[in-house]
Amino acid sequence: MNGLLSEYDLTRDEFEEIFAKAGRLKLDLKEGGSYQPLKGRTLGMIFDKSSTRTRISFEVGMYQLGGIALFLSSRDTQLGRGENIPDTARIMSRYLNGIMIRTYSQEAVEEFAKYADIPVINGLTDLLHPCQILSDLFTIREKKGDFEGLKIAYVGDGNNVANSWINAAARLPFTLAIACPEGYDPDPDILARGIKEAPLGITLERDPIKAVAGADIVYTDVWVSMGQEKEKEPRMKSFRGYQVNKGLMAKAAKDAIVMHCLPAHRGEEISAEVIDGPQSVVVDQAENRLHVQKAIMEMLIK
Ligand code: CP
Ligand code: NVA
Repeated sequence: MNGLLSEYDLTRDEFEEIFAKAGRLKLDLKEGGSYQPLKGRTLGMIFDKSSTRTRISFEVGMYQLGGIALFLSSRDTQLGRGENIPDTARIMSRYLNGIMIRTYSQEAVEEFAKYADIPVINGLTDLLHPCQILSDLFTIREKKGDFEGLKIAYVGDGNNVANSWINAAARLPFTLAIACPEGYDPDPDILARGIKEAPLGITLERDPIKAVAGADIVYTDVWVSMGQEKEKEPRMKSFRGYQVNKGLMAKAAKDAIVMHCLPAHRGEEISAEVIDGPQSVVVDQAENRLHVQKAIMEMLIK
């Protein structure tokens, strides 16, 4: 593993190594947090989009591991004024020991990684959100004992989070049932590859009730992702009927948990009563970003 651009690039062993390390790091932190393998190391964090969880968890995580993280808003660096990716990647590689990037285009992150001599971590693109899905799988293990053999229902927009779920289902033994309105399907290439390769299957439905039937995990995300603000009105119309609410949850397994990567819009993709109710694990889910990303950094940063 020399970077994390897509969860599809990980082997089963690498997934397991991340989860095992994250478990140990979480325990160490709860016991006082003396483990600092990244003393003297520096992570650059390039943000072209907003963030609460990703920024804080990477920054705090790096500090806890003994290193420091630099917040590099593209507005304030020469990247925002047109300096090209190859030059930026090569120069940053001389100062930093790792880079986390949150931006629009997946190709830009891949180009950065091509020219960088240091590990590059994808902190969300329009196409994928690998750190999110890795920590969500860790959370599912904590809550359910394992993800093996479980049914995960993803209801809503076929966006970056949905694509990352498909990539994970292509590699790991769980069933993924996706329900999206027409016109909002996941990336067609990622979906076709996932359907072909998933050990326990991936389905795409129009009917959220069918997708959620008997599910162990019900997952949703916003209907309007960052960068899609102009599409808000048609999206609100198209996604009507895809809200995760009490009625929909009644179709899932009795002990189903509800997950959301956050930020959430109560009353849109999820009702307040469900996200703030007893089945919701969203706060633990957000906390685990810290532990899982620390594991990823420990594995990648030399
Ligand atoms: N889930 C997630 O990535 O949150 P932020 O946008 O706050 O980083
Ligand atoms: N799909 C959302 C996820 C935010 C963490 C977005 O891209 O805005």
